[in-house]
Amino acid sequence: MTPEPRAVAVGILKGGFGKTTTALNLARELAHRTESALVVDLDDNGHMTLNLGFDEEYRGDCWGTNHTADVLLGDSDPREHIVTVTDGLDLFPAHVDLEDVQSGLKEATMGTTRLKEELVDGLLGDEYDYIVIDCPANRGKLNDNAMYATGNIMIPLRPENGYETGLTNTVQRLILEAREYFELDILAVLPTDLSDRIDQDTRDRRLLREMTTRDGVAKHVPNFAYLSADDWDQIDNGEYDGPLPGIRHRAAIDNANDQGLPLRDYDADCDQLDHYAELAQIVEAGEVDR
Ligand SMILES: Nc1ncnc2c1ncn2[C@@H]1O[C@H](COP(=O)(O)OP(=O)(O)O)[C@@H](O)[C@H]1O
Ligand SMILES: [Mg+2]
Repeated sequence: MTPEPRAVAVGILKGGFGKTTTALNLARELAHRTESALVVDLDDNGHMTLNLGFDEEYRGDCWGTNHTADVLLGDSDPREHIVTVTDGLDLFPAHVDLEDVQSGLKEATMGTTRLKEELVDGLLGDEYDYIVIDCPANRGKLNDNAMYATGNIMIPLRPENGYETGLTNTVQRLILEAREYFELDILAVLPTDLSDRIDQDTRDRRLLREMTTRDGVAKHVPNFAYLSADDWDQIDNGEYDGPLPGIRHRAAIDNANDQGLPLRDYDADCDQLDHYAELAQIVEAGEVDR
């Protein structure tokens, strides 16, 4: 069976929650499985583009122009501004003045449709089977474009102060508002960078508890992070012997980012790599398969 091409946005209205790490490693796993993935850096902080070493593209020295404006607001072909990360994985880099593009999109005719019309539709299913978008943390036209272009969102959550408001804001101000105008599916809600015990009152436990019991969210939690009612009983009785749920905190994940490499290329033996592979399966299937 040939998989259905799919684009997905990785987003949450909060910085430092694992968007870039998730987007890059998800795209890398899709590339590993299909040889045909593109990741789009839509965050003006350019973390993904800079981590991967494309400083010249980010600063505009490379093409001598703001390529994101040329593509989204002009009629430049996105193919001219795509770079190769590794076998089967390409990047459409961010530009330091992406914020100007956001202002331009506000003024532009049909400004929410540009990413879909000018980039995604021309490449998806043709050049690439999968397109992953690394979204900015603030609400605005760039996020609207990512939602509209993909119709799918994956939401990473760290057990940090503010995860409840980050999730609630994202659901209410991004997803529900978008759904008044077009279809938008939640593909996955994934707890990441967990390190604490879950058999004691820790933030990790509270995050997992909320994820796996909250209405409308629980069904989107990947199997590697899902705990059933029985699992919770076992945890509370001290009998749980399953794997620790969620993407765990690993030095290798952070170091890979510092070294400008996807996790697979930095440490293919990392025990968390399977979880990114499961995210890739969810994108292929279009839903969590429990
Ligand atoms: N599972 C993990 N283990 C270790 N470090 C992680 C993990 N997930 C994310 N990080 C680190 O957390 C920081 C924030 O993640 P990032 O993906 O850049 O968030 P965002 O894009 O939402 O701002 C980065 O330094 C990243 O390396
Ligand atoms: Mg980021």
